[in-house]
Amino acid sequence: MEKIKLEALKQIDLVNDLVSLENIRIAFLSKKGAVSELMKQLKDMDPSERKSFGEQVNQMKLEIEDALIQKKVVLENIALENKLKQEKLDIHLDQVVLPKGYLHPLIQVIRDVEDFFIGKGFSVAEGPELETDHFNFEMMNLSKGHPARAMQDSFYVDPERLLRTHTSPVQARAMLEAGGQDLAIICPGKVYRRDDDDPTHSHQFMQIEGLFVSDDVNFSHLKGILLEMAKHIFGPERHIRLRPSYFPFTEPSVEVDVSFVKSDGTPIWIEVLGAGMVHPNVLSMANFDPNQKRGFAFGIGVERIAILKYFIDDIRHFYVNDKRFLDQFKGVL
Ligand code: DAH
Repeated sequence: MEKIKLEALKQIDLVNDLVSLENIRIAFLSKKGAVSELMKQLKDMDPSERKSFGEQVNQMKLEIEDALIQKKVVLENIALENKLKQEKLDIHLDQVVLPKGYLHPLIQVIRDVEDFFIGKGFSVAEGPELETDHFNFEMMNLSKGHPARAMQDSFYVDPERLLRTHTSPVQARAMLEAGGQDLAIICPGKVYRRDDDDPTHSHQFMQIEGLFVSDDVNFSHLKGILLEMAKHIFGPERHIRLRPSYFPFTEPSVEVDVSFVKSDGTPIWIEVLGAGMVHPNVLSMANFDPNQKRGFAFGIGVERIAILKYFIDDIRHFYVNDKRFLDQFKGVL
């Protein structure tokens, strides 16, 4: 009996496929199997031995059954794993490693300025680059024949439409859309002037317009936010200086200078933007009552910021897609 049991357990241990395992079961436990053959001896036995012999055979049968079940589970799992491995479907394309891109320095400057103003509750607005004379000039208080139009000559598509000379028309569009409700927006985008390209001029460049209209806005709000912005962009040690200036769409108007230190240590002021309190005519043309609402506005040159921040010697570097230039701005922001 013990020999049969050990033989069965040994075979079960060594087997590694389900068919052979079933054959082992048949060999030992089926009606004609080795264990059943043992049972047949019972009837010829002395009744005094029969009981304990029967019990022992049963016990052995249970042990063999148990070993068979355990081995079956193991083999079934292996079979399933093999099947899954064979049926595995690889849906991946062959890997093509593309070099990771990065943002153009001008976009990096815009994102940085946007971050600052979004944090102050401003939203970002956009307007068309092909603009009407009406929005580009009239709504900005530059009526036909106004002498200040001469400073912003542009590319006309027809007598009424031109490539916008500044982002200021987005002010008028946003105010009309706001329908008299307070608003705080910045509008980044491309603008165009009829200029000959040289290290400091380009016929196309970028601006960020800002506009805040509400009940009790005053000049100190404008000054405060511009100072904070200068520190955000250029560093906490900056100061700003406001100089009286003239824009038809603001009154009073200022040019805003930011403090810099030259490489020889001399402190200097450099002009970075124009700003002012929104002109009453601009408010009323956009359906705001100038006796109730006031606003401040500003216009920043994006290239100017980038040039000063990254010490760039020629504005044209921004536009010619020279990777040796652009690669220097990988991961700056
Ligand atoms: N639009 C002006 C320009 O292109 C910049 C500017 C100045 C915008 C003062 C403003 C402002 O909103 O208040 O030269």
